[in-house]
Amino acid sequence: MELTVSLGPRSYPVFLDSGTANNFPATLNALFPESKFGLVTNTTIRDLYKPLIDQWTAELGLTIHIMPDGERYKTIETWGAIFDTFLPARFERSSVLIALGGGVVGDVTGFAAAAMLRGVKYVQVPTTLLAMVDSSVGGKTAVDHPAGKNLIGAFYQPNMVFVDTAFLATLPEREYRSGYAELFKYAFIGGLDMFDFIVRNHKALIKHDNAAMLEGIKRSIEIKAAVVNRDEKETSGERMLLNFGHTFAHALEKCFNFEGLLHGEAVWYGMACAIELGKLLKLIPVADIPSYDTLAAFLLKPQLPSFPPVDDLYNAMFFDKKVAGGQIKFVVPAEKGRSVMKTGIPEDTVKVAMRKGMTLHGTV
Ligand code: NAD
Ligand code: GLY
Repeated sequence: MELTVSLGPRSYPVFLDSGTANNFPATLNALFPESKFGLVTNTTIRDLYKPLIDQWTAELGLTIHIMPDGERYKTIETWGAIFDTFLPARFERSSVLIALGGGVVGDVTGFAAAAMLRGVKYVQVPTTLLAMVDSSVGGKTAVDHPAGKNLIGAFYQPNMVFVDTAFLATLPEREYRSGYAELFKYAFIGGLDMFDFIVRNHKALIKHDNAAMLEGIKRSIEIKAAVVNRDEKETSGERMLLNFGHTFAHALEKCFNFEGLLHGEAVWYGMACAIELGKLLKLIPVADIPSYDTLAAFLLKPQLPSFPPVDDLYNAMFFDKKVAGGQIKFVVPAEKGRSVMKTGIPEDTVKVAMRKGMTLHGTV
């Protein structure tokens, strides 16, 4: 199926299907005739998908750049090395970089495309669930800095996104569940229909049912595309709603020094805390609380080596990108499928929500 991210002259198609990776060169050649193609991927994907990459190389005449694998390599040095491959190979503005991988490869490649020759084309081929439902769409590109995650980057939209759910077959279960957190979050911000979809399909999604997964990814991309269409550069505040659960999650990740806990694992806890906050603030209508409790019971919270003290978690929140004028911004559920941004929430209320969210609900 084909979806569209509508951004006027920068609109682009998102192809979504299962088992279509062999057709990728034909799709690419049809959209970008006469272009030169470069592939960026990492060592893990190269080893897992060598025959596929060989086929693409034969059909597209690819120049290939291999990155090391891992968030710790999402750096300005890894970004710079991409130019060392493609500039001597005489890439031009009409050339196309292909990002084959998860969010790390996608974010670094997108940022390289934004800077190379002041902007070349690029295409996202996400291979993790997180990248399929979130990072491959919307044009946020970045690398990390010792001062924090994603602090150097650009808004730079891809020219096409090609999602083949067959890549999920090799994804480790832990990465799958982490990515699923980012799909699940759309239940809180994507409207009543998405809320009901998650309630009805949670078990199938967690079991990797391909039909449910295709539908879940499609809905996620449609919801994200609509938000990006209205607030591409996060100026109105609407795009921040996509970070449901993330204020708490980022604090948790910071308390663990970004080690031993995957981002999506922290998001599961963050969503639980946000639900509790919605109840404490009486934003969730009383009649909807049973439905929220159903959803909260689905949250897949992994075992943590320890629960950080609530004071530490609270203090860590002040390092979030959403802090403005010393005020922490929270995305809080308001009714089924809809959340709102809130500031000025008393410290005690936030801490109660954290205690409840961190300890109630959840299965491993
Ligand atoms: P990742 O890219 O590190 O991938 C996770 C692991 O899975 C890696 O070891 C990777 O090599 C491996 N992998 C990828 N595909 C695989 C496959 N099909 N089979 C087997 N192994 C596979 O992590 P991620 O969760 O995809 O992305 C996280 C990154 O995305 C973070 O850096 C985050 O900041 C960024 N992000 C960006 C946006 C955005 O809008 N740009 C949104 C959310 C997250
Ligand atoms: N992942 C949040 C965003 O793209 O805005």
